[in-house]
Amino acid sequence: MVEKKHTRAQFATRLGVIATTVGSAVGLGNMWRFPYEAGNGGGGAFMLLYILFILLLGIPVICAEFVIGRETRSNVLGAFKQLKTSRFWQIIGYIGILSSLMILSFYSVVAGWTIEYFVQSIVGNISSDVNFHEQFVGFTTGWRALLWTVVFLLINLLVIIRGVRKGLERMSNIMMPLLFIIIIIFCINSLTMPGASQGLDFLFRPDLSKFSWNVVLSALGQAFFSLSIGLGCMLTYASYFNDKTNIVRSAAATAGLDTLVAILAGIMIFPAVFTFGMSPAEGPTLMFEVLPRIFSMMPAGAIWATLFFFMLFLASLSSTISMSEISITFLTEQGRLSRSKACIVCTAIALFFGSLCALSFGPLERLNLFNLFNNISSNVLLPIGGMLISIFVGWILDRGVLRRQLTNNESIRVPMFKLIIFCLKFVAPVCLAIILIMGLIG
Ligand code: TRP
Repeated sequence: MVEKKHTRAQFATRLGVIATTVGSAVGLGNMWRFPYEAGNGGGGAFMLLYILFILLLGIPVICAEFVIGRETRSNVLGAFKQLKTSRFWQIIGYIGILSSLMILSFYSVVAGWTIEYFVQSIVGNISSDVNFHEQFVGFTTGWRALLWTVVFLLINLLVIIRGVRKGLERMSNIMMPLLFIIIIIFCINSLTMPGASQGLDFLFRPDLSKFSWNVVLSALGQAFFSLSIGLGCMLTYASYFNDKTNIVRSAAATAGLDTLVAILAGIMIFPAVFTFGMSPAEGPTLMFEVLPRIFSMMPAGAIWATLFFFMLFLASLSSTISMSEISITFLTEQGRLSRSKACIVCTAIALFFGSLCALSFGPLERLNLFNLFNNISSNVLLPIGGMLISIFVGWILDRGVLRRQLTNNESIRVPMFKLIIFCLKFVAPVCLAIILIMGLIG
């Protein structure tokens, strides 16, 4: 074990740590999934719950994953084996591998949509004489959606095969700040639209009549999905942290930046939704119908559109890299495959299920694996995984280990140590159990 600790790669800098975890967290979950889920959930009511869950459950669960990952420096399954607890806890590893492959499959489809829109922007098809609804439906029901899914997964393969440090760190460091700047520009643009105040009202004023267990469950699922937690993704990344990484601070920074991007995405989309007289509860198509329309009205719109879809493509890529990493570390460390073989196996599985997901809007509509994977992973598997992880760290894991990891061997002060433990022991397990049960039966 000791030997393995030294052969495993580690992140070089503190910026590298934040940029990569934020790179995993920020992606289509913020820009595509958050707005349509918030739209379905009635806007403000959803938003309130979402923020509550990020603070109360999200940050503690990220810390928990970080602790297990850095303590064991191992993959999702190996980590629980190494901690020598009852075999029961290894179920977290299996849930993680299963759900990461599910998410990778449908996520690659949406990432493929961003490639389509990137290409359409370049050839000048994002202009005011296009019917964006028809354009989107025409594309997603056809075979080109499949083509782009395959292309995306192959690009993903190219990146993951090159390994952790070089591949991830360099890309994330350049990309994240750029994406952030461009989103802020679009927000400013949206705030000048006639529907701006209506959009902001919808997003930020909770309408209490919209509360239902279903909205609660989807806000929870969205919080977990967006933070990349519940399936050991953050655990895997933390296995590359060095001993100086401040776990609590990194968790808070990741959650803060991720939430900020989601809120900015909302500010960018909802004013436009109301300006164009569209329905906020449009579903998964929302972003792809609203944004092209915004771009078509901006000066030099084609350039903005090209830039945006390219950045979004990169943001998706840094998220799929993190999902792939779960299975890759599992296959290389438990299955003793070489890294390249593991990357190929993981890509092959995603290609198979991703193709079925890509055709879920056209030829395979009756099966609709896309919706199935999308809903089951976020609303069932991630919360179950998160619940088990918090129970494990709160109740089973040796308290000394937890303390040592959170305080870097007593070398840093952790201001909310007790609160984090309290959330992991009581708040998270109880809330997650209630929400899962009520959300699934309600
Ligand atoms: N959080 C990412 C997003 O918002 C998606 C993601 C990456 C993810 N890794 C994950 C979701 C692990 C759940 C689990 O786009």
